[in-house]
Amino acid sequence: MVAAPAVEFRELSKRFPGVLALDRVSWTLAPGEIHALLGENGAGKSTLLRILAGDHRPDGGELVLPGTGVDVRTPADAHDARVRVIYQEPNLLMDRSVAENVLIGALPARRHLVDRRRLHELAAEQARRLGVDIDVTTRVRRLGPAARQLVEIMKALASDVRVLALDEPTSSLSGRETERLFAILRTLRSDGVGIVYVSHRLEEVREIADRATVMRDGRVVGTVSVASTTDAELIRMMIGRQISTVFATPDTHGDGRGDRGTPRLAVTELRTGSVGPVSLTVRAGEVVGIAGLVGSGRSKLVRALAGAEPLTGGEVRVDGRPVRSRGPSGAIAAGIAVCPEDRRALALVPDRSVRENILLGHRTVRPRLGFLRVRRREVDRVERYLRLLDIRPADPEARVRTLSGGNQQKVVLARWLAREPSVLILDEPTRGIDVGAKSEIYALIRRLTADGLAVLVVSSELVEVIGLADRVYVMRGGRVAGEVPRAEATEESLLTLALGTNQRSRP
Ligand SMILES: Nc1ncnc2c1ncn2[C@@H]1O[C@H](COP(=O)(O)OP(=O)(O)OP(=O)(O)O)[C@@H](O)[C@H]1O
Ligand SMILES: [Mg+2]
Repeated sequence: MVAAPAVEFRELSKRFPGVLALDRVSWTLAPGEIHALLGENGAGKSTLLRILAGDHRPDGGELVLPGTGVDVRTPADAHDARVRVIYQEPNLLMDRSVAENVLIGALPARRHLVDRRRLHELAAEQARRLGVDIDVTTRVRRLGPAARQLVEIMKALASDVRVLALDEPTSSLSGRETERLFAILRTLRSDGVGIVYVSHRLEEVREIADRATVMRDGRVVGTVSVASTTDAELIRMMIGRQISTVFATPDTHGDGRGDRGTPRLAVTELRTGSVGPVSLTVRAGEVVGIAGLVGSGRSKLVRALAGAEPLTGGEVRVDGRPVRSRGPSGAIAAGIAVCPEDRRALALVPDRSVRENILLGHRTVRPRLGFLRVRRREVDRVERYLRLLDIRPADPEARVRTLSGGNQQKVVLARWLAREPSVLILDEPTRGIDVGAKSEIYALIRRLTADGLAVLVVSSELVEVIGLADRVYVMRGGRVAGEVPRAEATEESLLTLALGTNQRSRP
């Protein structure tokens, strides 16, 4: 590239207690390029962005922003140099409006008071400019994860930017919102903005990025042009080995398991709000998928099964017993564990240890065992799941806050698995999880079903549903549009049902 780089890292290192998160990283971002950062969970991607944002100080090396004359030591320095970083975790004021969050750096004032009318006008204008359909007077707390992500993006782009970095920005966006974001990024690119894009989804990287830098264990493995590098090559760079099959081999699927046939979860004519009637079963040892477009009722169905939405009709049975008591505690008592979609926001206590987070909500105190034995049992259980899910670092006492994003997700999965439920419902189970860990989680799900667990997987990634499920229910308009056995589940057959372009009815 001929132009001076927008950002240059020179031999930059960052150490945390017990881990070298960045090890002499040299890397450049050109103006007017979209540069993907790839790597396994814990590779150092978010740490690199935190240094760029001035939130972390490196222990060695230099960060240079040529032509700005700014030496980044604090977040304010990075801001002055027109560097904006959108983090993996939402970073918004929950009890403030969309408009206040977006314009927080430049609230319009009149006679020392915030000029609300002007504020709302400016924010609405910004939303229109970016093609975001949102009421700017709404409090952020009332928005779903996708809308919150869009607010983050509006906020980052509220003033002129030179460098924009996004850490897994699409993890809660729908396909249409992702396309919208990509259109915005392409415009910024043509305006000369340097863009850093962190993602675990290779197909996205392929669609949007010009170059990619792969990191592993805090080091740069290499920088490549995306167009001239295959997925297999990128994956090999990321994990240092080849993955032949991401999904458990077919011979572990299907028949051959003892007590299949007993429905563990039976949902009959369930209704909640505009969703229903929905009937479905999940048998012992079975993985059942739910596919459907955003808005098809998938998430609402899951919330109803979790006890978070009231049923307006129908019945849910676990192992033949109707779930009678209402609310989340009723579902849990009945043996249903739901690993929610919005895991980071809903589910973790960042300043507590991994052990405490896994055991959260467990009733493990058995007085007759005595404190020390209870404690021993807890520790054993936690260590088992640290191992099963390959959570890194494998230290039960590490604060969750210090784990990488993907490892935090695994902690939430561990919590639900540790409850040893009858029915496990996974909503988007591998969002934010790297390819290597993904295939481990798929294998784990398979192993758990071999012990008789019934699993319901809701995912917007069709490949995931197809790869995992023995059977797939496809939802459309709040109802089950069809049921597809594993042998017939292809992206095409599922999409056809989800879109309703043919009139195949429920068997
Ligand atoms: N505040 C912290 N204290 C201690 N260790 C930390 C802290 N922040 C990050 N780490 C460690 O630094 C390493 C790199 O983490 P980082 O968050 O940069 O990974 P990542 O590549 O973004 O992973 P992911 O894909 O899971 O988000 C990990 O080993 C992580 O546990
Ligand atoms: Mg990260």
